[in-house]
Amino acid sequence: MKKIEAIIKPFKLDEVKEALQEVGIQGITVTEAKGFGRQKGHAELYRGAEYIVDFLPKVKIEIVIGADLVEKAIDAIRRAAQTGRIGDGKIFVSNVEEAIRIRTGESGLDAI
Ligand SMILES: Nc1ncnc2c1ncn2[C@@H]1O[C@H](COP(=O)(O)OP(=O)(O)OP(=O)(O)O)[C@@H](O)[C@H]1O
Ligand SMILES: [Mg+2]
Repeated sequence: MKKIEAIIKPFKLDEVKEALQEVGIQGITVTEAKGFGRQKGHAELYRGAEYIVDFLPKVKIEIVIGADLVEKAIDAIRRAAQTGRIGDGKIFVSNVEEAIRIRTGESGLDAI
């Protein structure tokens, strides 16, 4: 199992969610986040205004999926979240050791 964490522009959340649903993901966690990348938050346009603060509003998406879906999920996120401008975000992939579905006690791939 793999976890994909994607930091995206907030206004892209709906498009990314729809793209991921088409891939067949079973669940998603969304968190409002703040961050900066290489430009350190400067000179990035947000809602038409140039922000002069360090931290810019972002949305963090987390999905845990079978390893076979990772490439498709990455493609879906990239297609939906990319504007071509700075600040489009990042995708991080990591290993997940275990997952447990609390209601049923299922574990591993059966739990996600
Ligand atoms: N190395 C990192 N570790 C953790 N979070 C990161 C990292 N890089 C970027 N982020 C998160 O992703 C958000 C978007 O990053 P951003 O797309 O600006 O990266 P970048 O490297 O500056 O690329 P670009 O030049 O396209 O802007 C940041 O605001 C931050 O929340
Ligand atoms: Mg940046």
